[in-house]
Amino acid sequence: MPAGPLTIGQSGALHIREERLSMRKDACRLLYVSDIHLRRTRSDNLCRQVIESVRASKIDLVLLGGDLVDEPAELHKLRDLVGALRELAPVFAVGGNHDRPVGLNRVGDAVVQGGGEWIHAATARLAHGSRVIAVSGPDAPSASAGDVRVLCAHNPRVWKTARQQGYDLVLAGHLHGCQWVAFEFRDRLFPGAVFYPYCYLSHQDRSTRLVVSRGVSDLVPIRWRCPREVVLCHV
Ligand SMILES: [Fe+2]
Repeated sequence: MPAGPLTIGQSGALHIREERLSMRKDACRLLYVSDIHLRRTRSDNLCRQVIESVRASKIDLVLLGGDLVDEPAELHKLRDLVGALRELAPVFAVGGNHDRPVGLNRVGDAVVQGGGEWIHAATARLAHGSRVIAVSGPDAPSASAGDVRVLCAHNPRVWKTARQQGYDLVLAGHLHGCQWVAFEFRDRLFPGAVFYPYCYLSHQDRSTRLVVSRGVSDLVPIRWRCPREVVLCHV
């Protein structure tokens, strides 16, 4: 884990963490972007950072992992962000707990208006070379057929059941494990893992990998050894 300094504010570029599930040369490059938390005073800056991270990474598919907007007034910013990302790669999105007060339907509508796919309770597929990448949302019935099966979720609690459902990759965010990281032990971040048992960064259980993002943004922008990030997964 990159140690990272104490950071205050949200002005720097996003860290791009890489997770390799496949070493093949034609691996599909998924960018998982969670916890953008669009709000009035931050949206323009955060959207620019997300777009720059996608531009820098030659991405095949962008996955937006929930907690996208904090305020209904920012829905148009989400729509425009998806529209800008859509020019670079397909965009699939799910909601998180912060999207519920705004309305999951409204957040989903903004994603679709921007040209993305709302997969919160569905599965979408991406053809990549000769393979099919199947990406399911947290309320989708179960892992769907595909050469690579991905669960795009928000809360890492899904790992409790998703680890047994045949996914190759389970993605979560939520930054529930504190933005202050003292040390890492057995794949988990402490002290966050004292309170939240699924406070992993990356964890393998048989053929399934859990990857938890430290997220793009948070309510109180003070972090220690916990860079704001997006996660580039090679599958
Ligand atoms: Fe959350």
